[in-house]
Amino acid sequence: MDTIIGIDIGFGFTKATDGKSFQVFKSIYGEAIDFQFKESLLNSDTQQDEHLQIDIEGTSYFVGELAERQSSNRHFTLDQTQFIASSTKILALAAISRFMNSGKQSFKIVVGLPIGHYREYKSELTTMLRQSHHITATDSKGERKELLIGINDVKVIPQPIGSVMDRLLNDAGKCAEQRFAQEKIGVIDIGFRTSDYTISDKARYSERGSLTTQNGISKAFETIANKLKDSCGVNVELYRLFDAIETGSIKIRGKGFDLRKITQLAFQQLAANIASDANRLWSDDWDMDAIMITGGGGSILASHLQPLLEGVIIPIEQDLDYRLHNVRGYLKYGCNIWQKPAPDTTTETTSEE
Ligand SMILES: Nc1ncnc2c1ncn2[C@@H]1O[C@H](COP(=O)(O)OP(=O)(O)OP(=O)(O)O)[C@@H](O)[C@H]1O
Ligand SMILES: [Mg+2]
Repeated sequence: MDTIIGIDIGFGFTKATDGKSFQVFKSIYGEAIDFQFKESLLNSDTQQDEHLQIDIEGTSYFVGELAERQSSNRHFTLDQTQFIASSTKILALAAISRFMNSGKQSFKIVVGLPIGHYREYKSELTTMLRQSHHITATDSKGERKELLIGINDVKVIPQPIGSVMDRLLNDAGKCAEQRFAQEKIGVIDIGFRTSDYTISDKARYSERGSLTTQNGISKAFETIANKLKDSCGVNVELYRLFDAIETGSIKIRGKGFDLRKITQLAFQQLAANIASDANRLWSDDWDMDAIMITGGGGSILASHLQPLLEGVIIPIEQDLDYRLHNVRGYLKYGCNIWQKPAPDTTTETTSEE
């Protein structure tokens, strides 16, 4: 039987699950460096589980944190068109390779696209993924394994709808919370690069009321990076700010900078912009029952956003990292449409109106 996998490829992180475990790695890849050189570097500072290396069509790639550390030639693109064309396949296959327990396995996958690109790239993405992929995975000891990944079916859904599916369905893909099948719910999905807004009306995706903006968490990171540039003249790459912002300080050329105050200001400003976009976009949707905040950025901004949004907020369940709610919803949706001969009809509705 085919293994069902949910994959959420964000600009910040690639998230995937088969229902047993989650894979999360930064959405970065780069050319793998030559073996001898690599071995001497990796033995010292890379743990086995972080080593994600695959060969696709004759090119060897490091993926995720490994690429960030070791590849000289990194692809970390914030341009959406380029992102979908060049990166999706590499990131998706790297994620799938982690769930394989034999050299040959077949899958059905549910994958999300940003709202703004859903219609345009849905079929391109399906065609790109729905085929047999021969890849080679290399572990940290340099051992290579041939893998045959057969993708027999692909379902593409608008990214934030994953969080609605996560609440609507249980792990078996059956309807669990009826309100999500009956109500009109606004979803704000705050990611690294983008904020996606959409409405789930009786579990049906409505293109009206949907929007993608560039107000992701990286906007706040840019504000902080600019401030650092002003104070010390160094251009800090955005993805190198993750840890610094989390701990509240950064050391540049040996000198420490306190980031707490500027971080709070930047987050407050970003939340104000996100809330005003939502209030404007949904001004005529006064019949909306509630608003859900999701995405990794949602966990950071929720407390700032709540007082600024016009509507009732559904608290996100705290059982899981906010970044993973969409992808867990994709998997449940996959179980709903593929696992049983007669799927529950209430949820066969994610397709666009
Ligand atoms: N445990 C965590 N580790 C890292 N980042 C986290 C964590 N929890 C929340 N975040 C925040 O989550 C953000 C990424 O969220 P998410 O994974 O939803 O974005 P994305 O889907 O990759 O981006 P986009 O939706 O723009 O494509 C980061 O910018 C970070 O600020
Ligand atoms: Mg996302």
